[in-house]
Formats: sequence, C-alpha cells, structure tokens
Amino acid sequence: MFTLQDKITLVTGAGSGIGAAIAETFAKAGAFVFVTDRDQASGQDTVNRIMSQGGKAEFVVLDVSREEACAEIARHVLTTKQRLDILVNNAGIGHVGTMMQTTGADLDRLYAVNVRGVFNMSRAFLTDMLRRRSGNIINLASIGGVVAVRDRLAYCTTKFAVVGLTKSIALDHAREGIRCNCICPGRVETPFVSARLKEYPDPKKAYDEMAATQALGRMAKPEEIAASALYLASDESSFITGTAFLIDGGWSAGK
Ligand SMILES: NC(=O)c1ccc[n+]([C@@H]2O[C@H](COP(=O)([O-])OP(=O)(O)OC[C@H]3O[C@@H](n4cnc5c(N)ncnc54)[C@H](O)[C@@H]3O)[C@@H](O)[C@H]2O)c1
Repeated sequence: MFTLQDKITLVTGAGSGIGAAIAETFAKAGAFVFVTDRDQASGQDTVNRIMSQGGKAEFVVLDVSREEACAEIARHVLTTKQRLDILVNNAGIGHVGTMMQTTGADLDRLYAVNVRGVFNMSRAFLTDMLRRRSGNIINLASIGGVVAVRDRLAYCTTKFAVVGLTKSIALDHAREGIRCNCICPGRVETPFVSARLKEYPDPKKAYDEMAATQALGRMAKPEEIAASALYLASDESSFITGTAFLIDGGWSAGK
C-alpha cells in the first residue's frame, strides 16, 4: 500500500529483530536499503534475504557508537547514491537493573549506543538533508521512553533521551524540510528480549509476565513494528513530525 519506490534508506542494527524487519519491509516497498550493523554475518544475512526476493540492498559494517565511523558511512552513502532520504536509527542495547543494580559503566555503555548512536548518525546526515531541504529520520525509542519500566533504570534513561532528541530535531528543523519521529514499541519477540529473559532466574515465568504487560496479552512481532516504520517513512505521514508513536499493544492504556 505504502510505497518507498526509489527512496534511498539506511537502517542501523539491521542484522536482527526489528531492524532486519524494517530493512526487508523497506526493500519490499521499493527502497534501496543500506543495511548496517556492527555484526557482519547477521547484517549480510539480511542483505541476502532482501536480494533473494528481488530487493536492492548493500551491507556496511557500522558501530553507531563510533562518531568517525558514522561520518565515514555518510560519506560513502552520499558519494555512491548522492543522498539519503530516510534514516532509521534502530540499533540499541538493553540492561536489566534498578539504580542500585546499575553501575556508571552500565549507564555509559547504554548511552554510547542508544543516545550517542542516534546523535552520531543524525548529525552525520543532517547537513546534507538540510542542504537539500528534505529528510526523514525515524528513531527506535521504546515504551520505556514514555513511562518507566520496572528494573530498567539505564534503558529507560536512554530511551527518554531518544524521545527528547527526536522532538528537538523535529522542532528545530521542521521548516527546513526535515521530519523526525520515534517509534515506541512495547515488547517485541526478538533476540533482544531473549537476552533479557536469560537474566531472570525463571525465564518462562518472566516471558509470561512480559507478554502480559501488553493489554493484548502478547508480544509484538518485528513485522508489526516495521509496518509503523513504513508508514512514518512514506509520504502518507507527511503531517507527522516530533511524535512518539506508541506501538505497545495497549501497555500504556492503563492497568
Ligand atoms: N525487542 C523489544 O521488545 C523492543 C522494545 C522496545 C524498543 N526496542 C528497541 O528496538 C531496537 C531494536 O531492538 P531489537 O529487539 O530488534 O534488538 P536486537 O538485539 O534483536 O537487534 C539489535 C541489533 O543492533 C545491533 N547493534 C547493537 N549495538 C550496535 C552498535 N553499537 N552499532 C550497530 N549495531 C548495533 C545488534 O548487532 C543487533 O543486530 C532497539 O533500539 C531497542 O531498544 C526493542
């Protein structure tokens, strides 16, 4: 329904979970996708899946916490494709713990990827987007960027920051042709959640409890989040900027 025909797009953390689903969805909608991830093998797998379905994609290894690497990939994209239409800052990492279970090093580690990663990539591409007066940035925040989630001190701190970054970019550059939104998923069945579950003494019980936090009583599939990214990337959402788009299965509707 929504088309991204001939759009040049880039997705970070596209080797797994939500990022991989967004990359595949964008390619199916006609976009060229720069698939980036710090993990070479999984990122290349995403590209192989896209190409085997007739889509267009290229893998570039990228650690978003490295500012110079983000500047370098921007140079590569702008040299080879002359522009970037849609940037999806999806790469993110998690951590389980209250304040007393979180070290300063834990917080710095999450901040470097979840916040600086979004900052580094947006800054790397914004100069050219502003020059062209056209650009669309979509960030993966979380329900944990809108309400606190128990035992997720570091994670929520960084995701609230992503919502702030999103709204600031949107406000500062709205009249210069830039849109910036973030998606706030509830729990999504990805390796990210599997990794958290392993940190609990009873992973099965923890899974059931995590599924129950959504009013719908289940976790989302990555494709259900990718569908919202496609909408925000498309021209059909042209009047939407600065929003924190809740795709949370009713989590925030109430208890
Ligand atoms: N899964 C959920 O329940 C959920 C809920 C809300 C928000 N989110 C957010 O959605 C995003 C994607 O989550 P997911 O569940 O698909 O995670 P995932 O762990 O399945 O995939 C994350 C990908 O990011 C990559 N990555 C990690 N650090 C990186 C770095 N420094 N540079 C580049 N790539 C890096 C990993 O290699 C991996 O391929 C994250 O920002 C996450 O916080 C996830």
